[in-house]
Amino acid sequence: MSTAALIPLDRLLAILTAVVWCATAASRLTTPPKRSAATPRPSTPAEESTTALLPSTPPGRSTAASRLAASPEGSSGAATGRLVMGGAPITRGRASAVVFVAALVVTALRVAAAVVLAGRGWWFAGEKVLIALPLLVPPAVGAGVATLLRRPVLAAVCSLTACYAAVAGVVVVLAVGYPPAPYLAGVLVAGVLLGAAATWSMLTRKGPPGRAWRIAGALVAALALAWTGLSMWNARPTEVRLATGPTDLTTLRPADTTTQPTNAAAQPTDTTRQPTDATQQPADAGQGTAREAGQAGRMRRFTLTAEKGTITLASGRRVEALTFNGTSPGPAIRVRQGDLVEVRLRNHLADRGVTLHWHGYRVPNADDGVPGLTQDAVRPGGEFVYRFRASEPGSYWYHTHETPNEGLRQGLFGTFTVDPATPEGLDEPVALHTYGGTLTVTADKAPADGLARQVVAPGTKVRLRVVNTDNGPHTVGVSGTPYTIEAVDGVTVTGPPTTERAQLAAGGRYDLAFTMPDRPALLSVGLPNTGLLLTPGSGATPPEPVTPVLDITRYGSHGPAVPARFDREAAWVLDRLIALRGGLPLLSHTVNAEVWPHIPAQTVKQGEWLRITVVNRSGDLHPMHPHGHHVLVLSRNGVRAVPLWMDSFDVAPGEVWVVALHADNPGVWLAHCHELTHAAEGMTLHLAYEGVGSRYALGGHNHPE
Ligand code: C2O
Ligand code: CU
Repeated sequence: MSTAALIPLDRLLAILTAVVWCATAASRLTTPPKRSAATPRPSTPAEESTTALLPSTPPGRSTAASRLAASPEGSSGAATGRLVMGGAPITRGRASAVVFVAALVVTALRVAAAVVLAGRGWWFAGEKVLIALPLLVPPAVGAGVATLLRRPVLAAVCSLTACYAAVAGVVVVLAVGYPPAPYLAGVLVAGVLLGAAATWSMLTRKGPPGRAWRIAGALVAALALAWTGLSMWNARPTEVRLATGPTDLTTLRPADTTTQPTNAAAQPTDTTRQPTDATQQPADAGQGTAREAGQAGRMRRFTLTAEKGTITLASGRRVEALTFNGTSPGPAIRVRQGDLVEVRLRNHLADRGVTLHWHGYRVPNADDGVPGLTQDAVRPGGEFVYRFRASEPGSYWYHTHETPNEGLRQGLFGTFTVDPATPEGLDEPVALHTYGGTLTVTADKAPADGLARQVVAPGTKVRLRVVNTDNGPHTVGVSGTPYTIEAVDGVTVTGPPTTERAQLAAGGRYDLAFTMPDRPALLSVGLPNTGLLLTPGSGATPPEPVTPVLDITRYGSHGPAVPARFDREAAWVLDRLIALRGGLPLLSHTVNAEVWPHIPAQTVKQGEWLRITVVNRSGDLHPMHPHGHHVLVLSRNGVRAVPLWMDSFDVAPGEVWVVALHADNPGVWLAHCHELTHAAEGMTLHLAYEGVGSRYALGGHNHPE
């Protein structure tokens, strides 16, 4: 069984263990001990064998357990111990025996799952081996042994203790997260042990619980309430300023992006963003000379106006959308390397703020479009000007970052392409976006909710810059001819021609290239009858590829050199836990067991190399995206990557990715899951350069998550 399947199974088993042990505990307290029943009745052989497994109270020893058990119907003779289920009477004794056996079996399965996960090097086996299982297994075994030895009180105490331990196990799995806070682990262990002691004392003493116990119980309840209240108060929504360093991030704009260049000679060199060697800059992978050639850039001005509208898909279907300049995707912005880009954003929406984030493009921090971090969201009627030099060629895209899970999904995005030279042949961005539940493909016309078609002469060089603007992955590939992946997330890669398909993470880009054959070629996107069909004029549509999916981290033969040493190490553990969001305990997507904006910042110093281990402890896929930087993928699940630069990478359940980030773009940057519902439910953190501060605050009108 795959790790991806084992993780949810492990969680399910944790919950199931708690259910069956609590049921067992309940049945221990309510099943009448057979031999102490008031009216003897003949037992069938089947019942005899069942009762062998059950607790029985030796005559003459009236305990709280037997009193509890006997209380409601203990003197009602033959009715005792019978339940009616589905019309057929079954003995309650048998039911409780079944529950008990189930509890033992589920516990054994739980141990087995933990052992298998540990055997696969799963990061989190430790928390089970150290906390959950040591608490659960001894009382479970104790309950079994006590039952065999016919020690009913001991069996009841053990069953109840197993119930407490199993519940603590659920808390560990669903709410504590990783790394487990030592005090929380301590509280859980103490709770289970105290519970066991209290249970023992209650079940063996005569008479009602003593005063000391009542006081202790009340004290524990009061403490728990106070703790919960205090944490909820601390997590209530407030304005938050994330970075308070002395350097205001808005001063980090390089000088040359704030003035219009008059001629090439007058342009200051963009020294902060020049590569020093091939290993350090993603844009340098093979296109260094183009960079210099492009320095004699022009000023390119664009205006994007956000407005509500209706767009018409290729089929004629009309969809309500949020648009830039009346279209969605918004205008394709395409510039030459070296151009100075100025984009004026206007907000003509009535009811929401908007910003522009340049996904994957390494803009100066103040142009990153993150409300509450790098600017205030542009309110209705307002505007904001973004200005930066297009020094890095490649395929990128832009989108609003104010409540992006709503704004972007409803249409506030477009493609952004930086050409190193005049494009040859057919070279176009292709955006994949789901409108109202329908996946569309946008190349040169309206979004196609079906097959988009273009006529291309055989022999033409084709480069399709596929952009995934959705929340989930798409499986892309070309059928009809082999193709190469020429760039990943805007950065050139070198790999062999393939016929396999490739999983494109949410937010990610692949440039797929081939020479047009004399028959049709299909860009497939993982759905039948959806994609971009290029035809030389005639010929049958090639079938959808059913070839396996290639591992992008191992595509190609060589990549940039890996730094020999790192200045910092970090681990980001992605999880699904109950956490306090806006002051309420909600099922959340967490990083290191915390939710936005309370996840501690990932700090770096300019010039450092940071190695990040990203571990997915949850059952969901997380396309992780750091702003302002690409990361160099070093390994995936312990297998060395080529390596390659990415800015959006899919971390599947149970996976461990090791990536390197070069801190060469100072500022305060977001890093988040690009499944934007996850980002909104907590999976957003920030990368903070030491000494850099932001004058903007989260909350109010600023919601980048
Ligand atoms: Cu497309 Cu914060 O990202
Ligand atoms: Cu996610």
